[in-house]
Amino acid sequence: MTDTVPPLGKDLVGLEKLTAGQILQILDTAEPFKEISERRIKKVPVLRGKTIVNLFFEASTRTRVSFEFAEKRLSADTVNISSSGSSVVKGETLVDTARNLEAMRIDMVVMRHGASGAADFLAERIPSNVVNAGDGWHEHPTQGLLDLLTIRDHMGRLDGLKVCIVGDILHSRVARSNIYGLRTLGAEVAVCGPRTLLPPMVEELGCQVFAHIQEAIEWADVLNVLRLQLERMEGGYVPSLREYNHIWGVTSERLEAAPRDLLILHPGPMNRGVEIDSDVADGPHSVILNQVTNGVAVRMAVLYLLAGGQPEKAEAAKQGAES
Ligand code: CP
Repeated sequence: MTDTVPPLGKDLVGLEKLTAGQILQILDTAEPFKEISERRIKKVPVLRGKTIVNLFFEASTRTRVSFEFAEKRLSADTVNISSSGSSVVKGETLVDTARNLEAMRIDMVVMRHGASGAADFLAERIPSNVVNAGDGWHEHPTQGLLDLLTIRDHMGRLDGLKVCIVGDILHSRVARSNIYGLRTLGAEVAVCGPRTLLPPMVEELGCQVFAHIQEAIEWADVLNVLRLQLERMEGGYVPSLREYNHIWGVTSERLEAAPRDLLILHPGPMNRGVEIDSDVADGPHSVILNQVTNGVAVRMAVLYLLAGGQPEKAEAAKQGAES
């Protein structure tokens, strides 16, 4: 498989256009990198000499820290920029910001931005590698990849699995990356949530739609529960948070009625007691923190491959050999 997989190219802006071979290659490259984070000294010289800028125009805990750990554990030099502490607040454009960074001879930009399409826009305008860390409602490819890796770790496969994404699909870049990645790897994908929080024509993405959470739980092997994105709602999407939990919440009572144990994912941050109850989030079938752990290895794999690393040499590279 590895011999015939086309290279990722300069950037990773989404999973929509990746082939099954390319996605599997990232997941397989992440496998050997998992072990680096378990070492006493969590550092290998894989990206020594590379300079990476983490450009975060929106809030983030998991993605920003996870990229920074991935970069540092691979020995890259990193700089973190957030919009509030930069000249963006003085009105500098994205392209001017990026060109000024380029003038300092950087190699890669990891960017989170509130505008859908911002990662593509930047990737077309600068020679550095661009990694999308979430752009508006569009895609969050490394979140999709870490979700795939976590599901594969626990279920042993993705092909033929039934995965239901529950909640605020409309505003969710995580949902889009999950739908593209899961379907490309042969999983059956459904969505479930209030019609007001489903994108128009969601069925055209190849998803089954469940109107009731009980039907989704009856059908699925895996639930990926999404956060209600209150900051992107100006009212009117759901009557109240209490009512949302009453009708759509993933609760232990509902899961107990399922015909099988369901694997529970959530990309975080969670609204406990709204889309997911604490006894589910912290329960035996939750892999929410495993997702976070896998995020570091997946991001190492993406950075390594975009930097020109050979997938078949990842195991040797992490031992300190030239890649
Ligand atoms: N899952 C995720 O993107 O979390 P952050 O917003 O904290 O990065």
